[in-house]
Amino acid sequence: MRGRSDIETVAVIGAGTMGNGIAQVAATAGYDVVMRDIEREFLDNGFEAIDDSLSRLAAKDDLEEDPGTIRDRITGTTALGDLAEADLVVEAAVEEMDVKRDIFADLDGIVDDDVVLATNTSTLSITTIASATDRPEMVVGLHFMNPVPVMRGVEVVVGEKTDPDVTEFAHWFAEDLGKETWESDDKPGFVTNRVLMPWINEGIRAYDEGVASKEDMDRGMKLGTNVPMGPLELADHIGLDICLDASRTLHEELGDRYKPAYLLKRKVDAGDLGKKTGQGFYEYE
Ligand code: 3HC
Repeated sequence: MRGRSDIETVAVIGAGTMGNGIAQVAATAGYDVVMRDIEREFLDNGFEAIDDSLSRLAAKDDLEEDPGTIRDRITGTTALGDLAEADLVVEAAVEEMDVKRDIFADLDGIVDDDVVLATNTSTLSITTIASATDRPEMVVGLHFMNPVPVMRGVEVVVGEKTDPDVTEFAHWFAEDLGKETWESDDKPGFVTNRVLMPWINEGIRAYDEGVASKEDMDRGMKLGTNVPMGPLELADHIGLDICLDASRTLHEELGDRYKPAYLLKRKVDAGDLGKKTGQGFYEYE
């Protein structure tokens, strides 16, 4: 296995919210990063988010280097073949099993055999993703939290075949990015989403059933339990489509107690996905 001192280039697959955040924190830690997405426009949006985030951090003196120096360590590509030189791959593409399995099967033929393939999946099985490769022992979950540059924690998820050295490497890498880790077995939703998604869905259901206004649902949970965001604003922050996908996976695997709230499905069908579309439970500029 390619060890700690060999890691120079990190490939990140996906330039969306999670992918660009992971690329940013890896570049901030000094790694060269190749960020890959399927369209140039997605890469441009990812770089825009990175520039914005780096300038916010620079304004607070939270960066040890100039934002431009960090930014210059990241290159963008639309070709999976350009990841051939990667010493580590972190996949953060869409949450669809078929898409992830195709990516991992392709990666298996592109990057060297001793390279760890990590996935940022929020609820899908690491073991199922890993089985698309000839190196399931080298596949591990590295589940970052949104917004990646700000959130302290990363969940390390251990698949059925994940080698213990790979698990240890995943903890080390996340810590090297300045994060703290915890470990979860490869069971639906892992630690975080298994507990978070029912909380969000119950908030949406309670709002839909008229328990309180959306503002009071969020204020009640923030003031009453000291969380930074209430369930409705957190759902908007994560993206309602992401919440619905995660809830559906949990529902499928764990049964009716995980059924997504009806209003969550209706809002996603209407195209109101939260902050990213300017409209979710709340309206955004
Ligand atoms: N890059 C850099 N800095 C950022 C940033 C970003 N992307 N986003 C926010 N910040 C900074 C702001 O500049 C601000 O800095 P300051 O306090 O020094 O001025 C600070 O973070 C706070 O931001 P805001 O003032 O805009 O707003 P908040 O005080 O509400 O904080 C928040 C925003 C950090 C998102 C906070 O509300 C929070 O922690 N919310 C909970 C987020 C959460 O639970 N995330 C996990 C979701 S689950 C998940 O990701 C798993 C997935 O699988 C679903």
